[in-house]
Amino acid sequence: MTHHRELAALGLMLALAAGSSVVAAEQSQQSAGISADLAQVQRGKGLYADHCSHCHGFNMVSAGNVTFDLRTFPRNQRERFFNSVTNGRDNRMPPWGDVLTQDEIGDLWAYICTGGK
Ligand code: HEC
Repeated sequence: MTHHRELAALGLMLALAAGSSVVAAEQSQQSAGISADLAQVQRGKGLYADHCSHCHGFNMVSAGNVTFDLRTFPRNQRERFFNSVTNGRDNRMPPWGDVLTQDEIGDLWAYICTGGK
């Protein structure tokens, strides 16, 4: 019976395959850094279209001068963004803390940082 040897060979092949898939996973994780950001921007764009665009304008191009032009929001004031979006502003901008998770606000922030491009 060669059955045992075949099994051993199969085991070895599986071990090798597992080893190479670890390398593949590491490689794809490196590129995932970029694609994760893109996915975040895409999610943010969808959230923006659903929740923000009717006041802040399609693609962040503000329809009037009542709402803040988000393209000009300072990129180094991430905390102010989270705070304003979570809690609202001056009774003119509704609070989003009950509607959106902090992760979703992070997605919006990623999108806003692209300036709509
Ligand atoms: C009902 C209309 C309305 C909607 C919907 C709305 N906003 Fe606003 N937003 C405003 C107005 C009005 C202001 C200006 C408030 C002010 O300056 O007092 C504002 C201001 C802001 C600011 C600037 C705050 C600051 O710190 O100066 C940010 C950031 C912002 N909105 C993000 C968002 C995001 C993100 C969404 C979607 C989740 C959203 N807004 C949805 C009306 C809206």
